[in-house]
Amino acid sequence: MSDKVQKEGLDAEAIRKYETEYVLTPWTAQKGLNPFVAAKAKGCWVYNPEGKKYLDFTSQFVFTNLGHCDDRVNAAIAKQAALLPSVNSQWATEPKARLGKLLAEVTPGDLKKSFFSTGGTEANEGALKIARWATGKQKVLSRWRSYHGSTMGAMAVSADYRNWCAEPSVPNALHILPPYCYRCHFGATYPACDIQCAKHVEDVIRLEGGARRVAAVIGEPIFGAGGVIVPPDEYWPMVRAICDKYEVVLIADEVMTAFGRTGKWFGMDNWGVVPDIMTLAKGINSGSVPLGATVVRPWLAEKFETQPYLHGHTYSGHALAMAAAVAAIEAYQQDKLIEKAAKTGEYLMKKLHELQEKHPCVGEVRGKGLFCGVEIVKNRQTKEPIHEALMEPPRPATSKMKFLGKCMEEGVYIMAGGASVIMICPPLAITTEELDFGLDVIDRNLAICDADYQK
Ligand SMILES: Cc1ncc(COP(=O)(O)O)c(C=O)c1O
Repeated sequence: MSDKVQKEGLDAEAIRKYETEYVLTPWTAQKGLNPFVAAKAKGCWVYNPEGKKYLDFTSQFVFTNLGHCDDRVNAAIAKQAALLPSVNSQWATEPKARLGKLLAEVTPGDLKKSFFSTGGTEANEGALKIARWATGKQKVLSRWRSYHGSTMGAMAVSADYRNWCAEPSVPNALHILPPYCYRCHFGATYPACDIQCAKHVEDVIRLEGGARRVAAVIGEPIFGAGGVIVPPDEYWPMVRAICDKYEVVLIADEVMTAFGRTGKWFGMDNWGVVPDIMTLAKGINSGSVPLGATVVRPWLAEKFETQPYLHGHTYSGHALAMAAAVAAIEAYQQDKLIEKAAKTGEYLMKKLHELQEKHPCVGEVRGKGLFCGVEIVKNRQTKEPIHEALMEPPRPATSKMKFLGKCMEEGVYIMAGGASVIMICPPLAITTEELDFGLDVIDRNLAICDADYQK
């Protein structure tokens, strides 16, 4: 592969010009944007048009779990494109049949039937509709700091600054306190805390009308964009038991945490918990073709045996996305990537702890597998964040933003993550040499945030 990639067509300057003139870029004010131009990618590396390469410590928005541009996934897409790229969503196709069966096999417990959509947001919209419809109840509880998607329903159950433009939001979406040990909302310390964050879920369910009124609890097994927040080990088993007690549907939003990201097939596998609905996207086909899935247990699927399942999209079960997902899941199995991610994750966590010892600005490191977060603070005692997640312009040039810019300059792309957290989520096949390269750049540039540290 030659390094210089933009030989014909638009050059980088024209691409940037057209994009800023004709495209609305998500999640940011448009004025003064100067987007990175990506020309090609392979494995853990992304190239700009001049051929400069960047180590991808983000898997983009945490989706290229297999690495960029996997040959097996590409071949499956090309083969399907030549045969039958898409048909209406009620017809059966071989890749859809195969993917449905594969998902039933790899997801935990008796999760069995999948509804296919085109991303995580739609997967969650489907889950919310199913939970409300199947139970005949309306209220859905979700945790502050979560992100479940950008349309009205998914955003209503999300709870970060991105909600603000869509408020007032969909009724009966209620927020509860998150399990965030580093900044415990209950003023407690684990393990003496008695897992008050889980007990809080039961309190709110009861206060909101209990089994008669609450339809569902939705949550990311480990918060992603909210700052890679890992709950205490008791949390999800306790929430599962509470949901059973009050006949509440438990929806696990595994859009980021699935497909090996946390060193297990699914985030909930870390605690042996089987949700009633699991939502998937991103890693399901390593982000190669837009795809989401809402996987439900038989007791929910049965509700739609005689009454119609009144939900769908033109592209539900799009054959290219189906073929790509079958190839990706087979590649995870073939390469034993999930087991590999667990091992590499242990190495990454060890190295992150070393950074924590060295840099005063590192308040906490946390995560599982290759889903890690580094929380940067101005002071370890007060835990004052170095950066607030506010997107109103002008975007503050905090030391965290400067740190990220410097790392990019030195060839490592790192995602901002929620608030004062940087996320480290490389493709699962990353080698320890590649990790070391990225971590050295982080180590050097954390001095920028250390300089902001107030003793
Ligand atoms: C946990 C979680 N759920 C849902 C979504 C929304 O997925 P999408 O952007 O594919 O619609 C995201 C996106 O980052 C996510 O992280």
